[in-house]
Amino acid sequence: MNVHDFLSKKKENKKITMLTCYDYWSAKILNETDVDCLLVGDSLSMVMHGYNDTTHATIDMMALHCKSVSKGAPNKYLVGDMPFLSFRKGLSSTMSAVEKIMQSGAHCVKIEGVKGHEEIIEHIVSSGVPVMGHLGLTPQSIHALGGHKVQGKESEHQDRILNEAKKLQDLGCFSLVLECIPKSLATQISSKLFIPTIGIGAGSGVDGQVLVLQDLLGMSPSFQPKFLKQYINGFEMIQSAVNEYVCEVNDRSFPEEKHSYGD
Ligand code: KIV
Repeated sequence: MNVHDFLSKKKENKKITMLTCYDYWSAKILNETDVDCLLVGDSLSMVMHGYNDTTHATIDMMALHCKSVSKGAPNKYLVGDMPFLSFRKGLSSTMSAVEKIMQSGAHCVKIEGVKGHEEIIEHIVSSGVPVMGHLGLTPQSIHALGGHKVQGKESEHQDRILNEAKKLQDLGCFSLVLECIPKSLATQISSKLFIPTIGIGAGSGVDGQVLVLQDLLGMSPSFQPKFLKQYINGFEMIQSAVNEYVCEVNDRSFPEEKHSYGD
């Protein structure tokens, strides 16, 4: 997969699949799957570091996780998230942040929103760095949005998101994440753009889907938003494997002779 394949997939009416990935060992597994591309998302601040939202992700965190994923998944297209405010501190600071993410193994950067950073996006694109946009629920603005809520329910807000999507395409973004917006709006945006849309909580009328790996694997069974399908109950599977190990150590059935070195 490379940046041109995103557009080709849309032209050929083929879906794009993306998953978040934050670390070396899950990258090694995903490298051996059919998923098209991996996102080192700033959601890692919640999933890997236990914060309540994504505003705690820093460039150093993102770069470290990008390096681990790029080592583990050398065959996958890697999207690196630009974290909270990293693209709002002026051109020079933004370009240093982009440099850090790209030199950590990403093949493009993802940036939330558009208002107020149009010129920055244009500059990044014209510097030879592909940019993936992100509209709808933009979690870095959680405090302004008042929570993780579905966006674009009112027609005025829908028009704004559609116009912003067109703007991002005009600025040179090669693809666009649409998060938590009504299916009809996501479908409408997808049909009006030539760049592919990748949805999370945006229904089936988009050009691709993205999920957080740990959500798909059921690592937090109590996290059950409407848009999520948990493909396995990873939490219970790991819990039961660990408890089986503890039980076998306690009842002395592990380790067996075959797990022991001879003289
Ligand atoms: O950080 C992230 O995981 C994301 C996805 C929700 C698209 O941006």
